[in-house]
Amino acid sequence: MKKLVILSIVGLFVFSCVVISAANKPAETQEAYDEDTYGPEAPIVWNKPVKAVFFSHKVHTKDNGLDCESCHDEFFEMEAGAAEAKEDFTMASMGNGLYCGACHDGSTAFAYNAECARCHNAPKEQVVWTKPVQAVVFSHQNHTENAGLGCQDCHDALFTMKSGAAQEKEDFTMASLYAGNYCGACHDGSTAFASNTRCTVCHIGVRGYGKLTGQGEKPSH
Ligand code: HEC
Ligand code: HEC
Ligand code: HEC
Ligand code: HEC
Ligand code: HEC
Ligand code: HEC
Repeated sequence: MKKLVILSIVGLFVFSCVVISAANKPAETQEAYDEDTYGPEAPIVWNKPVKAVFFSHKVHTKDNGLDCESCHDEFFEMEAGAAEAKEDFTMASMGNGLYCGACHDGSTAFAYNAECARCHNAPKEQVVWTKPVQAVVFSHQNHTENAGLGCQDCHDALFTMKSGAAQEKEDFTMASLYAGNYCGACHDGSTAFASNTRCTVCHIGVRGYGKLTGQGEKPSH
């Protein structure tokens, strides 16, 4: 009986040590990021004028030691989304030393007009054009992740960062591609497969379009 009591006391002690150390783990990681000291932990994301531009407080305050006053309220209000409501929240303004451009000038911090992907995310969903013909697709992932291209290989010289913009232009045709414009700047048979081959990797057809948009196949008459 005595043995059993001692055994269970020892057992309880070991058990509580395990519980205490497990309970301490999450507390430690919580201390590592304190929002009052460093600003909000979740990245701020803007979708205007273009989609998926992000900003991290952690990088600026915790990792690079900037204090709140270096941005608030001279360059940014303490309100997520306030800047994107303003007309002048553009790359040109940054060139004039506003917003991110107050520091991202190539000396205080890396330049605003290089390495686009450090601030911009490529869209995940495919671009789909319906003019002049239905159902031509473009995947960013194929080009940025798989082919290793940078944003500047296409933006803004060949395409603007606005889904559907190209199809508003009269010359968004195969003849233009064959002449080396738009996709044809690379899809010429040497940088990438030629535009006059493999029609169906770019043209997904009525059925592919139905699948992609979840609308199913429309009757032809
Ligand atoms: C390098 C610039 C920079 C620094 C330094 C900075 N912030 Fe910010 N902060 C921003 C930007 C950009 C936004 C988003 C504003 C917008 O969308 O218009 C923002 C937004 C905020 C918001 C609003 C978040 C929300 O969800 O509405 C809070 C709160 C905030 N900052 C607190 C802080 C605190 C506290 C510090 C200092 C520890 C700090 N910031 C330092 C740039 C900065
Ligand atoms: C008050 C000065 C200041 C402002 C304003 C500022 N930054 Fe920074 N930023 C820095 C400094 C300093 C660094 C660290 C040095 C570097 O990476 O060049 C940095 C680094 C970064 C990084 C690099 C993160 C990494 O580790 O790769 C990104 C991305 C970034 N900033 C985005 C932004 C964006 C987006 C804005 C505007 C919304 C902005 N910054 C506004 C000073 C600033
Ligand atoms: C330091 C961060 C940063 C870098 C680097 C950066 N951008 Fe931006 N960009 C922004 C922010 C912030 C906005 C405004 C928010 C939005 O549009 O969602 C913006 C908006 C834009 C816009 C729409 C507004 C306009 O000026 O027409 C375009 C286009 C754009 N960026 C292209 C680029 C390209 C191309 C590169 C690389 C050469 C680049 N950006 C590099 C932060 C950056
Ligand atoms: C191989 C060419 C190519 C590369 C590389 C590329 N893009 Fe694009 N991007 C496009 C095309 C094409 C469109 C659609 C434009 C149109 O319809 O006129 C587009 C559209 C966009 C849009 C608008 C999306 C929308 O829903 O409105 C954003 C944002 C964008 N690109 C960001 C990026 C970023 C960030 C990078 C780098 C990480 C990048 N792109 C690299 C070709 C490219
Ligand atoms: C800046 C150069 C560049 C531009 C512009 C470009 N591409 Fe590409 N693309 C590539 C490269 C490089 C590859 C990979 C090599 C290959 O497949 O030949 C590729 C691959 C592809 C693939 C093949 C994916 C697979 O599964 O094999 C498709 C589809 C495609 N591109 C469509 C387009 C369309 C549509 C446009 C125009 C809206 C376009 N690309 C514009 C460079 C480019
Ligand atoms: C690299 C991608 C790509 C390949 C490969 C490609 N196309 Fe296209 N095609 C496009 C784009 C982008 C457009 C313009 C957008 C739209 O019409 O939706 C287009 C438009 C067209 C159009 C309407 C405009 C015009 O020029 O009359 C026809 C017809 C067409 N393609 C036929 C073909 C045929 C046939 C092939 C194969 C021999 C082919 N395409 C291969 C990307 C491609």
